[in-house]
Amino acid sequence: MAEHVRVLIPEEQIEEKIVEIADKISEEYKGESLHLICILKGGAMFMCELAKRIHDVDISFDFMSVSSYGAGTTSSGIVKIVKDLDEPLEGKKVLIVEDIIDTGHTLNHLTKLLYNRNPVSIEICTLLNKPSRREKEVPVKYSCFEIPDKFVVGYGLDYDQRYRNLPFIGVVEFD
Ligand code: IMP
Ligand code: MG
Repeated sequence: MAEHVRVLIPEEQIEEKIVEIADKISEEYKGESLHLICILKGGAMFMCELAKRIHDVDISFDFMSVSSYGAGTTSSGIVKIVKDLDEPLEGKKVLIVEDIIDTGHTLNHLTKLLYNRNPVSIEICTLLNKPSRREKEVPVKYSCFEIPDKFVVGYGLDYDQRYRNLPFIGVVEFD
């Protein structure tokens, strides 16, 4: 079956929005230290593009990989840590950088777990947000785009590990 990706959010629009969000973060944490936690693999492209546009903030990086048990394209709420952070969070201001918040199960679970490591604060920054799908509350501080209930790919997001490299957000369509 042939498939193609229809553009939903073009590259220029994403870049513009990332600059805007990076400025907000720079303002909020001006002169302070901020520890960015990238949720792999989906958050990787967004994290790089975001981080390089943050200014006047002392930035550090860490990476974490989690998987939700459950079938297909929806998460179950049971989150397994596949790769844990390298650094402790004690005394740090933390910003979790995620590709998309869908049901909210993943981040609801993850923030609770990371709070137990005694950070000063934890905030969430996501590229995409599907509020209509929310089942668990997630306090999102920075969100680039709210999107409808469609399965999207690109800019780090995958469909069966493919399409992560696309420089835009798109919807997979089958011909
Ligand atoms: P949640 O726990 O339902 O919020 O799931 C969030 C995770 O599901 C994201 O980090 C993605 O990995 C994945 N996900 C949810 N919606 C999409 C989508 O439209 N495209 C690609 N991955 C998605
Ligand atoms: Mg993800």
